[in-house]
Amino acid sequence: MSETSDPQPDHPDRPERAQRGRTVHGEAANAGHRVLAPDDAEVEAYLETALNAPLPVRAEEEAPSEPDTVIVLDFGSQYAQLIARRIRELHVYSELLPHDTPWEEIERRRPKAIVLSGGPASVYDEGAPQADPALWSGRIPVLGICYGLQLMALQLGGEVAPASRREYGPASVTLTADDGLFTGIDREQPVWMSHGDSILRPPEGFHATAQTDSTPYAGLADPARRLYGIQFHPEVVHTPRGSEILRNFVVDIAGARPTWTSAEFIAQTVDDVRARVGDGRVICALSGGVDSAVAATLVHRAIGEQLTCIYVDHGLMRKRESELLRATFEQNLGMRLVMVDARERFLRRLAGVTDPEEKRRIIGDEFIRVFEEEARGLGEIDFLVQGTLYPDVIESKTSETKAAVKIKTHHNVGGLPADLRFSLIEPLRYLFKDEVRKVGTELGLPEAMVQRQPFPGPGLAIRIIGEVTAERLETLREADWIVIDEIKGAGLYRSLWQSFAILTPVQTVGVMGDGRTYANVVAIRAVTSDDGMTADWARLPYEVLGRISSRIVNEVSGVNRVVYDISSKPPATIEWE
Ligand code: XMP
Repeated sequence: MSETSDPQPDHPDRPERAQRGRTVHGEAANAGHRVLAPDDAEVEAYLETALNAPLPVRAEEEAPSEPDTVIVLDFGSQYAQLIARRIRELHVYSELLPHDTPWEEIERRRPKAIVLSGGPASVYDEGAPQADPALWSGRIPVLGICYGLQLMALQLGGEVAPASRREYGPASVTLTADDGLFTGIDREQPVWMSHGDSILRPPEGFHATAQTDSTPYAGLADPARRLYGIQFHPEVVHTPRGSEILRNFVVDIAGARPTWTSAEFIAQTVDDVRARVGDGRVICALSGGVDSAVAATLVHRAIGEQLTCIYVDHGLMRKRESELLRATFEQNLGMRLVMVDARERFLRRLAGVTDPEEKRRIIGDEFIRVFEEEARGLGEIDFLVQGTLYPDVIESKTSETKAAVKIKTHHNVGGLPADLRFSLIEPLRYLFKDEVRKVGTELGLPEAMVQRQPFPGPGLAIRIIGEVTAERLETLREADWIVIDEIKGAGLYRSLWQSFAILTPVQTVGVMGDGRTYANVVAIRAVTSDDGMTADWARLPYEVLGRISSRIVNEVSGVNRVVYDISSKPPATIEWE
């Protein structure tokens, strides 16, 4: 970043002009990026960056224990992850693998069953994803969904008609044969369809099991070889009996035992971590988010005092969050917790800064400085705990965490000696977010921590439009507290992706008693979303909005007007900065 783009005047308490926007080592800090939704990944990545170790050593890619496993082969469907999640909801461990995973690798995992996902391609497309013919041997039961079904039919000698148009949306299916897959399910079923090609003639050995108005082959089965296929999507909520169909396949037909539970996972993970760490020293960055909280608690249960957690209080957290963190980890769990009160430092560096990306840059850079100082003081560290989740693992093709790669490329900082080598402990790398929450609850973490909505790494700083000051932080913290309090009181907290207040720099006129006021406008944002990539503004009940508004205006000094943000993403973003 060039110095001329820094709009701030010099200030005696801030680093010299030439140093601002730079790391402690003088390189450009340039953290002008966003680490999306994964909650506290950003803060964890700061620690990984501060330690500046060579590529971290990952544990073997084995599943923690060896639960009965169902492999989902991903042919590119937007629902592929959902299939794995649905199977796990049946308490059967499920892994998502690319469709071209070599057969040996699939066999090495000794799956009880294999599910082929749908996908956007036509089986006739050039380069359409193929399946290894070993799949059809009959040794392992296979369920093909949509594209998976068509591929099965085509590769086994059936006939598939290229699409003249796509069928997409709700449909009604008639289940014509009970082959175990549809046991206990009424003949007429609403289902969700999304496909182009359809089957004209089943392969030898197969018979039809379901039909719709548009196709007589909406389901096929060859029970002798335990090969099944359905044209519709059992994994989405629009197929109400979909989970039962998956259960029939996974548990009854394939015989997978439903042993994948939080309690089992915790017991196994604690054993694994203990065995791996030996008498090594472990460090973990706590951010207040659910992932790092659960990861730290699991590791603490395994190795106790050998774990040190670092929490940097940058003063940009919400009301009572830092206290909750201290009470939970230090007092209740007896963890070694280094709480760094860096509130003044962050405020000093943020003074006069109004540009959102500059705020992010400064916060990221300051975080790394603080971590570097703390980590230096701790001496040799063997392991670093990260709250990496399964979706990050699926997407990440590198041996580093995705967030860390991004942050490293942007910050480019140096830290501890380069010969320091640590290994990563990622106890959550097999879990989806909802599973992390269940494990957190089972571990006894407070609900406010386990069910917390995503909160950005730079915290309230990007919800104060304009300069961040101690006073404005206090105003926003109080307003934000009221929003959360009322949303929780109305039982809406968990149905919203995020809900929060924004302090605008706009001042408007109001009346209070006999006098006029001139005070700030607070905006309320509440959105529903699946993953933060798109979002809709929440249709909050007027009564809830009314209570939020009157409480903020009455209880928070310096605010005389409240507005509700009714923009969707896109074109707006969730955060205002
Ligand atoms: P936007 O505002 O881009 O946000 O629609 C999408 C999701 O990302 C979060 N967010 C951030 N998280 N550091 C983070 O760790 C950031 O700088 C940041 N900016 C946005 C946001 O809260 C939402 O969940």
